[in-house]
Amino acid sequence: MKTQVAIIGAGPSGLLLGQLLHNAGIGNIILERATPDYVLGRIRAGVLEEGLVSLVREAGVADRMDREGLPHSGTQIAFNNELRRIDFHKYAEGKQVVVYGQTEITADLMEAREASGAPAIYEVVNVEIHGVTGDSPYVLFEKDGEQQRIDCDYVAGCDGFHGVSRKTIPDDLRKEYEKVYPFGWLGILSDTPPIDEELIYGLSDRGFYLCSMRSHTRSRYYVDVSLDEQVEDWSDDRFWDELSQRLPEDIRGNLVTGPSIEKSIAPLRSFVCEPMQHGRLFLVGDAAHIVPPTGAKGLNLASGDVNYLYRILLKVYKENRLEATKQYSELCLRRIWHAERFSWWMTSMLHNLGDEIDRKIMASQLDYYTSTEEGMRVIAEQYVGLPYEEVV
Ligand code: APR
Ligand code: PHB
Repeated sequence: MKTQVAIIGAGPSGLLLGQLLHNAGIGNIILERATPDYVLGRIRAGVLEEGLVSLVREAGVADRMDREGLPHSGTQIAFNNELRRIDFHKYAEGKQVVVYGQTEITADLMEAREASGAPAIYEVVNVEIHGVTGDSPYVLFEKDGEQQRIDCDYVAGCDGFHGVSRKTIPDDLRKEYEKVYPFGWLGILSDTPPIDEELIYGLSDRGFYLCSMRSHTRSRYYVDVSLDEQVEDWSDDRFWDELSQRLPEDIRGNLVTGPSIEKSIAPLRSFVCEPMQHGRLFLVGDAAHIVPPTGAKGLNLASGDVNYLYRILLKVYKENRLEATKQYSELCLRRIWHAERFSWWMTSMLHNLGDEIDRKIMASQLDYYTSTEEGMRVIAEQYVGLPYEEVV
């Protein structure tokens, strides 16, 4: 097989990049290890920054998102039994975010891919990336027991944290920065109306909680738990009881409980790989970086990478500017480190970490940043997302 861009991974990064390139007349083949159903079974966050919303529109896949997504112009932060609102309209120049599940975006992108007729090959194994430091990269993989080969100009490694693309960059040219937090988030999805119209990020003596949603009738809640907790030990009743004890007293009565439709524990990690390119291989999304979910930056960072790589490949194929690829890693990493800092900071303020003095200092930060104009502006402008830089 022959194509212009070989894309490894059919998560949101690979599918969005594939759709944008296909619409621009740039040929691409997507290779995915799992089945479509498996990819769609993963429940992830669902807060979309304006940059991602625009990119999904540019890809022509926004109909359902524009119909069903919930625009939010603020978020709530709760501590000491009190709710404080961060007003995006006021403190982030009228910007807003859209609440729409990552799973839904992925489903919309998969449907568009199928309708476009562009190739996506699922259930492949033993993917190997070769020749990226020369002019003729190729990708080997096995499908139904047979080895196949794709010759291409570029390889986009959109294969997530556990993929093969990152490991294709030699150890001595790659530096990885990593921090694993000493707790995980236990999440529950339920067909119950959300407790509030906006998200609530909260800290109580018993720990962190997040009240989120997918729609007016479907809620997503989290509490932090220690890493040795097993999801099987958390009945729905135990979860609702724990969440309820963490909520501020005057909204506790608004919580509507019901059977869970998904329950899982996710570890929290900060991770960045530098550089994000090696010759003609580009790392995109979770393949290159992970943020803890406090701040909802994971998917939004991935879309930043997709945006930059797409615009760079337009320069390459439409203006014959091959050297444009050199700016990819630097452009992405500037935005990524800002989001890494924001996600780490929000995580530190909203979880009971460290010793007594650390907690007192974090409580003071939380108070300052949620009660002063300057503080609320810092949270608001980063929560709605930093703008994409122009690609030259
Ligand atoms: N070969 C082919 N496909 C692979 C391989 C491989 N060796 N390894 C992994 N994959 C596939 C995975 O099965 C998965 O479907 O690559 C895909 C990567 O998707 P994600 O992990 O979802 O990563 P990405 O598309 O970058 O999405 C960005 O934003 O909110 C965050 O973590 C969240 O997934 C989310 C991410
Ligand atoms: C979610 O809805 O799953 C969600 C929302 C915001 C976050 C993390 C997760 O910061």
